[in-house]
Amino acid sequence: MNRIVLSSLCAGIVLATLAMSSLLTGCASHQSGSHTQPALKDTFKHAFLVGVAINENQFTEKDARGVPIIKTHFNSISPENILKWEAVHPAPDKYNFEPADRYVEFGEKNGMTIIGHCLVWHHQTPMWVFQDGKGGMVDRETLLQRMSNHIHAVVGRYKGRIRAWDVVNEAIFDDGSWRQTPWFKIIGEDFIAKAFQFAHEADPAADLTYNEYMMEDEPKRKGVMAMIRNLQAQGVPITGIGTQMHERMDWPAIDAVDAHLRDLCSLGLKVMVTELDVQVLPDARAWRDLDLTTNAPLRAQLDLYPNGLPASVQHALAERYADLFRVFLKYADKIDRVTFWGVTDADTWLDYWPLHPRKDYPLLFDRQGKPKPAFDTVIHARAAH
Ligand code: GLA
Repeated sequence: MNRIVLSSLCAGIVLATLAMSSLLTGCASHQSGSHTQPALKDTFKHAFLVGVAINENQFTEKDARGVPIIKTHFNSISPENILKWEAVHPAPDKYNFEPADRYVEFGEKNGMTIIGHCLVWHHQTPMWVFQDGKGGMVDRETLLQRMSNHIHAVVGRYKGRIRAWDVVNEAIFDDGSWRQTPWFKIIGEDFIAKAFQFAHEADPAADLTYNEYMMEDEPKRKGVMAMIRNLQAQGVPITGIGTQMHERMDWPAIDAVDAHLRDLCSLGLKVMVTELDVQVLPDARAWRDLDLTTNAPLRAQLDLYPNGLPASVQHALAERYADLFRVFLKYADKIDRVTFWGVTDADTWLDYWPLHPRKDYPLLFDRQGKPKPAFDTVIHARAAH
């Protein structure tokens, strides 16, 4: 075979493959690196920011797979872990700002909207925060002072550079009642108002957000909204509500997604989708923290696709994402940003939570960093809007 015949044969195969993949996804090519591939941030430019949570390998530019994707597709970043209390303030007199400084520099260098996450939470907060020197719990005044010191130090350091802070994370239980955290038990309900007040003092221009999960379920949403209306009535400087949106294929129903965004939009705050992903594997919260490596039968039941996602599931995921983005676009005038929790499937927390190890497929880019069919349907949802 001469070279011309061979290359036209190759081109034919490539074209046929592209046509096949377009047929499968019902829309444009998702070849990695193709100059025709639209960028998410450009596609949704007039709708909302498109953000992503990034890790240290990414903001220090060591992750050769993730960094080009971040720079091409996203115009907002959230820190996956480095601004959580245990990371940035591990001991009473010790702050570790080095990684956070790099994170903020990365965002500035790339002209991105930089998010701070999160100031007051019950997880990833060291026990010393709540304890006195004798192992007992501190009193309200001491804890308020520690909260104030922490927020002033962290928010103050990045004043004018971090545009929005998740001030309080996950303070309400699934039934809508107050979560019984040390913050709540020691300080009382006004720990939230105080946290917002301290953050506002530290950076009066920053957006200040309350962040929560599972508000797609009505009891929780009602509890959160009542709490927020109460803050608003008191004049607390809250400007945003963050809905995490860690979704599954079968939860929540798309009507519930719509209803929850409609309700959140009625608060008169900026609405932020803060931690979007779609778990493809079965819900395994009943086996929390279990190590599956020692339990082959359960692993077969819960880690369904260790060798790759079957085309039918890939297709269903793409449809799920299209449905979600159609709802986001419906409320685009109130939605400030949609942030994915991770860059590629290789980065997802869902491989380790609620049990481990598994291989999940919750994002728009696969483990090699290639856009998945869900990427195409998300782009297509915008074009069709
Ligand atoms: C919560 C937190 C995030 C992250 C995710 C899971 O939603 O807000 O910071 O820890 O859980 O990774």
